[in-house]
Amino acid sequence: MKDQEALVAAARAAREHSHAPHSRFRVGAAVRAASGRIFGGCNIESASYGLGVCAERVAVLKAVSEGERDLEAIAVVTDAEVPTPPCGACRQILWEFCGDAELVLATVKGQVEHYRLSALFPKPFDSSRR
Ligand code: THU
Repeated sequence: MKDQEALVAAARAAREHSHAPHSRFRVGAAVRAASGRIFGGCNIESASYGLGVCAERVAVLKAVSEGERDLEAIAVVTDAEVPTPPCGACRQILWEFCGDAELVLATVKGQVEHYRLSALFPKPFDSSRR
């Protein structure tokens, strides 16, 4: 994948800012826009547990809020034994803002997996197909 190292590095750097006092599971993500700009995000938990937000959605929402609409790749980094795929809620948001984007799932130890979002989210709810 084009510029994979930079994207994974951004996700790894964002993970350093993870606020996960409840789960202790620190997640970093990064999205690359077609413009070339990269936006990082980390999971941010709340004392009101249900309000926590995943790293992937933080990264996407940061990009969108900066005017980026065309997101073409996302990386996720965790310290799990094997790469961590995005949760269902994040898959929906990724589909809406990134389309059939490239996903790079990596562990802090360096294990890497590649997917297209459509492989992980094969039958999406898509408002353009209602
Ligand atoms: N988490 C993410 O940041 N991304 C995912 O796709 C799955 C889960 C976060 C949410 C919560 O802060 C912690 O990981 C444990 O579920």
